[in-house]
Amino acid sequence: MSNSSLARAPAVAEPGGSEFAYDRVELTDDDFRQAAALVGQLTGIVIKEHKREMIHSRLSRRLRALGLQSYKAYLEFVQSDAGKNEIGEFINVVTTNLTSFFREDHHFQDLKNKVLAQIAAEGRSRVRIWSSACSSGEEPYSIAMTVRESDAAQAKDLKILATDLDTNILARASAGVYAQDRVTAIPEKMLRASTKQVGDKFEFTSEVKRMITFRQLNLLTRWPFSGPFDVIFCRNVLIYFDADTKREVVNRMAQMLRPNGTLYLGHSESLLGEHALLSSEGKTIYRRRA
Ligand SMILES: C[S@@+](CC[C@H](N)C(=O)[O-])C[C@H]1O[C@@H](n2cnc3c(N)ncnc32)[C@H](O)[C@@H]1O
Repeated sequence: MSNSSLARAPAVAEPGGSEFAYDRVELTDDDFRQAAALVGQLTGIVIKEHKREMIHSRLSRRLRALGLQSYKAYLEFVQSDAGKNEIGEFINVVTTNLTSFFREDHHFQDLKNKVLAQIAAEGRSRVRIWSSACSSGEEPYSIAMTVRESDAAQAKDLKILATDLDTNILARASAGVYAQDRVTAIPEKMLRASTKQVGDKFEFTSEVKRMITFRQLNLLTRWPFSGPFDVIFCRNVLIYFDADTKREVVNRMAQMLRPNGTLYLGHSESLLGEHALLSSEGKTIYRRRA
C-alpha cells in the first residue's frame, strides 16, 4: 500500500462518534487467497478454505488496530515497504498456540525413564534439548521440571533451547507466569519445587528459568546453530505444514540429532514409512540411528 492510501485510511472512530464496524468488513475470495498465500510464504502454515472464518476474525484485529477499512488495504500495507513492521503482527495473529503442561505425557515418561536415565548413566556433562515450537512455554518448562527430577540434572552444561515464530507468545513464555487453571497438570510437589506463587498465579523460579533460553525462530529459515541435540521436541506444528515442508523440517532435525538422539513429534504427526536416519521407538518417538 502506498503512503497516500495509508493516509486515506480513516480513523477508528468515524465523524459523528459511531465506531466503524470492523467485524462486518467483508473478506473477499481474493483477499482470502492472498492472505492464505502470504501466510504460507512467511510461515509454511497451509490455510485451507475451512480456516476462512478464523483468518477473517483474526485479521479483523489488525484492521481495527491500524484503523484500516478493507482487507485489500491491509494486505497491500503488510506487503509494502511501509508495512515491514506489520509482518510480525500478521504472523502473530495467524498462529495457533494451543498447548499445555505435560501434553502427551508419554513423551515426558520416555524423556525421564530412557533418555535422561541414559545421559545420567553415561555421566555426560553436555546436554542439549530443543523445544522447537514452544508456544507459551508449557513444553520447555515441562522439560525443565522433568530434568530437575532426574539424575541428569547433575550435568554441568545442560541447556534447553525454546523457540517459536510468534514473538507475542514467546514474551509470555519467557515471563513464565501461569494462572491456576493452567498448572493443574503439574504434580503438586513439582509445582511447589519449581514455582513461587504470586497472587493467584504461579511463576517459575529463576533457577528453572535459567535452564531455558527463549529465541524467535522460523522453522522455515536457516537455523543459527548446528547442534548436536540430544532431544528435539517438534510437536503439533508440522500438522500446519504441507508434506514437502514437513519432510524437510524433519530431515534437518534428524541431521541435528546426535546418534541415538530423540525426536518427539505431535500426536498426529507420525512419520509415514521408513526414514533413513530415524527409527521409530513407539508412538511419535524417534531415535537417530547410530
Ligand atoms: C499448537 S502450538 C504447539 C505448541 C507445543 N509444541 C505443543 O505441542 O503443545 C504450534 C506453535 O507452532 C508455532 N509455529 C507455527 N509455524 C511456525 C514456524 N514456521 N516456525 C516456528 N514456529 C512455528 C506457532 O507459533 C505455535 O506457537
